[in-house]
Amino acid sequence: MNPAVEAKRDLGWAHQFIPAPPDKSPFTLLLLHGTGGNEDSLLDLGRSLLPNAALLSPRGKVLEGSMPRFFRRLAEGVFDVDDLKQRTHELADFVSAASVAYEFDATKVVAVGYSNGANIAASTLLLRPEVLWGAVLLHPMVPLMPDELPSLSSKPIFIGAGRFDPMVPVVETERLADLLRSAGADVTLFFQDNGHGITQDEFAAAQKWLKKASHAF
Ligand code: MLT
Repeated sequence: MNPAVEAKRDLGWAHQFIPAPPDKSPFTLLLLHGTGGNEDSLLDLGRSLLPNAALLSPRGKVLEGSMPRFFRRLAEGVFDVDDLKQRTHELADFVSAASVAYEFDATKVVAVGYSNGANIAASTLLLRPEVLWGAVLLHPMVPLMPDELPSLSSKPIFIGAGRFDPMVPVVETERLADLLRSAGADVTLFFQDNGHGITQDEFAAAQKWLKKASHAF
C-alpha cells in the first residue's frame, strides 16, 4: 500500500482515500466518523475491520462549534431532517464520484459509521441504497422515516449497540433493525453491555461478521 496514493482529488469534500493493494479486496469501506471526528478518526478501525479493503473517509461538512458532523441537529437526538436528506444525497453523490476518480468498484462499498456517522449511513441505506453494498452501523438511531420504504433486499447490515447507551435506548436500536428488516435487509444485531463507546467485543463481532459477509458475496 502506498500512503502517497492517499490522493486528494478535489471531490468537494475533505477526505482520505487509501486504495486496496492490487488484487487484494474488491471492497471499499466508507468510514463515517462520529461528532467531533474527522477523516482520520476511523482509519485504524477500518484497517483492522477488513485488512486489504480500500478506505474512503470523508470529513462531515457541518460544524457544531468546532466539531465536524455529517448533518445538522436541533438538539441531541433531534435531527434537522431537511438538512439530513440533503446531506445524505450529497454524500451518496460523493461516493459515486470517488468511485470514478479512484477507480474502485462502486458496487462493493460498505459503510462503516459510528454514532453521527452511523446515522447518516442508515439514512443513506433508506434514501440512496444503491451506493451501499452493506453497512456496519455502530450505535445508530432511526435517522428519519422515508416516504417510501426502499428495497434493501438481502443487503448485509451489522448493528452494534450498547445495552446501557445513554444516547440510544435499546428500543431505538430495535426500531431501526425492524425498519431495515422490513425493507428486506439481512440485519445482524449485536448488543454489548456498555454505553455509547465501541467495545472490544463489539469490534470483534463486527470484524467477524464483515469477514464472513464479504467472503460470501
Ligand atoms: C447524532 O447527532 O447523530 C447523534 O446524536 C449521535 C451524535 O451525538 O453524534
